[in-house]
Amino acid sequence: MIGPEIPITIRPEAPGDEEIIFAITEAAFADMKHSDGDEQHLVDRLRKAGDLTLSLVAEDGTRIVGHIAISPVKISDGAKGWYGLGPVSVWPEVQRAGIGGALVKRAIADMRAAGAMGIVLLGSPEYYSRFGFQYVPQITFPGPPAEYFQTLLLDGEMPSGEVTYAPGFYG
Ligand SMILES: CC(C)(COP(=O)(O)OP(=O)(O)OC[C@H]1O[C@@H](n2cnc3c(N)ncnc32)[C@H](O)[C@@H]1OP(=O)(O)O)[C@@H](O)C(=O)NCCC(=O)NCCS
Repeated sequence: MIGPEIPITIRPEAPGDEEIIFAITEAAFADMKHSDGDEQHLVDRLRKAGDLTLSLVAEDGTRIVGHIAISPVKISDGAKGWYGLGPVSVWPEVQRAGIGGALVKRAIADMRAAGAMGIVLLGSPEYYSRFGFQYVPQITFPGPPAEYFQTLLLDGEMPSGEVTYAPGFYG
């Protein structure tokens, strides 16, 4: 799919969006088998800790229909300027209409414009490879199958090491 089937605008979250972001995240992950049901609280924890580097919402003209979060990560080799993408959430009834893809593309563009060196994420290789993410063996994340942890280099050289997310990811 090239662009959203539903016309949307994307903007940074604003005060007052917190509840709808919580509701969309909860609804999007409700039936996901890899979810621990904590993603909506995770976004709140990141916000509270000042770790929501980027928090974008997609609006269809009348309501917010999607959300994406970016937060800082550490890489054990000390590389600076790296971020984690996710969670990404789209209301279940409007999924598969290009909204999630538009949010991912805009988040990548915004982070590139802000001078980020790279982005990592945990997710389906099938879905995220279309945005340029790939499995990079030298960037590791403990736990899930290695190929689900993917990397997009934006600038500079590929780091090497284990990734640690912002504290909000760990409860
Ligand atoms: C993943 C998600 C954000 C994608 O948003 P979306 O608006 O539905 O995605 P798009 O319409 O841009 O893209 C749809 C495409 O992605 C594919 N896709 C969507 N979710 C996928 C998944 N979990 N695994 C593999 N492919 C997926 C669809 O097959 C579709 O492919 P096609 O265009 O070739 O038919 C959304 O489905 C969602 O909120 N899912 C639940 C929460 C989640 O899993 N978030 C991601 C992990 S952080």
